[in-house]
Amino acid sequence: MKLRYTFSVIGLLLMSQNTFADEGKQLFDSYCAACHGLTGGMDMDKRVAPPVAAIRVHYIGPHAEKDDFIAAVADWVAAPDATKTLMRGAINRFKLMPPLPFPREEVEKIAAYIYAGDLEKPEGFDEHVQERHGKGGMQGNMQGN
Ligand code: HEC
Repeated sequence: MKLRYTFSVIGLLLMSQNTFADEGKQLFDSYCAACHGLTGGMDMDKRVAPPVAAIRVHYIGPHAEKDDFIAAVADWVAAPDATKTLMRGAINRFKLMPPLPFPREEVEKIAAYIYAGDLEKPEGFDEHVQERHGKGGMQGNMQGN
């Protein structure tokens, strides 16, 4: 009896976590994917912003803690600030991201989705990271930590 109860609680928790992640992905698709999605692939001349997987690579190092990561991304989206960038090269190439006045709790769900790391990557992304940042270095971060 008790065991069965425990299992159903675990089941519910897993389900709610899934919904949470799906919601983050859906919000990402509506709010961010136009710029940070797959369009343009790894050809930076055809892109308007870096792919989201690249954002994760740059943010997960200095913000390894989930809450910290979420706060950093949410702060950025509300008020991009070139003095706080972790992607200087991206600003040079694409110009500073415009501030997006979305509700903070929604952006936090997006950030949790990015943190979890199950992201669509443009073809050739992993090779690019390996080439630029070396094996074992940032590459380790790409396998969901
Ligand atoms: C209109 C296009 C556009 C949209 C929409 C957009 N971004 Fe960006 N974003 C950019 C550009 C361009 C950059 C690269 C330049 C920069 O870092 O400011 C960027 C960079 C970033 C960075 C790295 C910032 C840094 O320099 O350290 C984060 C984090 C980020 N975006 C998150 C998001 C999230 C989350 C969303 C959706 C809520 C989003 N962006 C929507 C254009 C966009």
